[in-house]
Amino acid sequence: MRIVHVVGARPNFMKIAPVIRALEARGGFEQLLVHTGQHYDPQMSEVFFRDLDLPRPDLDLGVGSGSHAETTGRVMTALEPVLAEKKPALVVVAGDVNSTLAAALVAAKAVPPIPVAHVEAGLRSFDWTMPEEVNRVVVDRLAALCLTPSSDGDENLKREGVAPERIARVGNVMIDSLRRALPVSEKRAPELLARFALTRGGYALVTLHRPANVDAPAIFSKLVEALETVSAQLPVLFPVHPRTRARLSESVAGQRLLRATRIRLTEPAGYFEFQALLANAKVVLTDSGGIQEESTALGVACLTLRDNTERPVTVTEGTNTLVGRDPARIVPEVEKILAGHGKSGRIPALWDGHASDRVAEAIGRFLGR
Ligand code: UD1
Repeated sequence: MRIVHVVGARPNFMKIAPVIRALEARGGFEQLLVHTGQHYDPQMSEVFFRDLDLPRPDLDLGVGSGSHAETTGRVMTALEPVLAEKKPALVVVAGDVNSTLAAALVAAKAVPPIPVAHVEAGLRSFDWTMPEEVNRVVVDRLAALCLTPSSDGDENLKREGVAPERIARVGNVMIDSLRRALPVSEKRAPELLARFALTRGGYALVTLHRPANVDAPAIFSKLVEALETVSAQLPVLFPVHPRTRARLSESVAGQRLLRATRIRLTEPAGYFEFQALLANAKVVLTDSGGIQEESTALGVACLTLRDNTERPVTVTEGTNTLVGRDPARIVPEVEKILAGHGKSGRIPALWDGHASDRVAEAIGRFLGR
């Protein structure tokens, strides 16, 4: 029985890797991996294949960057003949990036339709200005099997009218990847920290790439101001996403960032490296979705530079606090953490390193295997 997995952007890779392994262990499936090429820089893609032990893609669609319509359209056009030829019994997609949406659309409209399994289903920020929210809602509407990481996902789907038999709560597959990586990450940590002249628990780690944060000069400027203030108390390490990198020379705030002496800008980190940096940070300031989850799993304080999150369990149970983009809110939260009054959390249910086994079981059941 053939399964096609479609990945395209950085946050897909750590979700699909454990699923492929679990399906392999279960046996009885021929698995094909298609990379759309939405992310193509070695540091955004190749390094993750290596660190996560992902098989080489059977096919690379090479779509590259573009507007939302361009990326989505190119993936659709390139994937359609592939699915027509391979005729899989199931297409598996993960997360909420444009490649996820494009693949789900093509599979759902194939003749005959190919069922879609969505890993990380049901998450909602309820913020329709966020491109990922549009992707999430549409993909879940199209998916025959919605694999959720937490109970809020089930609730959201049921509220939207998704039949309970289409929903399987499997837990968080990202944590499967994280747990697998930790021993290697920890081994690499001393060399890595030395490279950046950092000490364990002695720095803030920053990531920023959401268009809402880095493409609007007024907001980007406020965030830079917050980071400058934080850096007076704690050295800051900031691996810079390509989108953000492009803003650095273009904007006044970006140029301030380039000149800041206690903010170290660096290339996007590989998977092992990033988890090592995260596990040893005092605090992470981020607008990423995945990092909110990884910091909760690691027990590291996370300040999310957004007004909402599609991962509320990281706030209600984990170490995450939503702090928005105002320095007057961000800086005191960092000070609280430095004073030892940061939030402590617990690890949510089913974030236990075995989510991918439950994915394989649910898929096996769905396909009658
Ligand atoms: C995408 C996802 C976002 C995810 C993020 C993680 C969508 C809608 N967004 O955003 O949810 O959090 O990935 O990284 O799919 N670029 C490069 N090299 C690359 C990839 C991108 O230089 O390998 C540059 C290009 O200039 C491109 C820009 O980054 O135009 C943005 O890339 P894109 O894939 O459109 O979105 P991300 O911001 O990466």
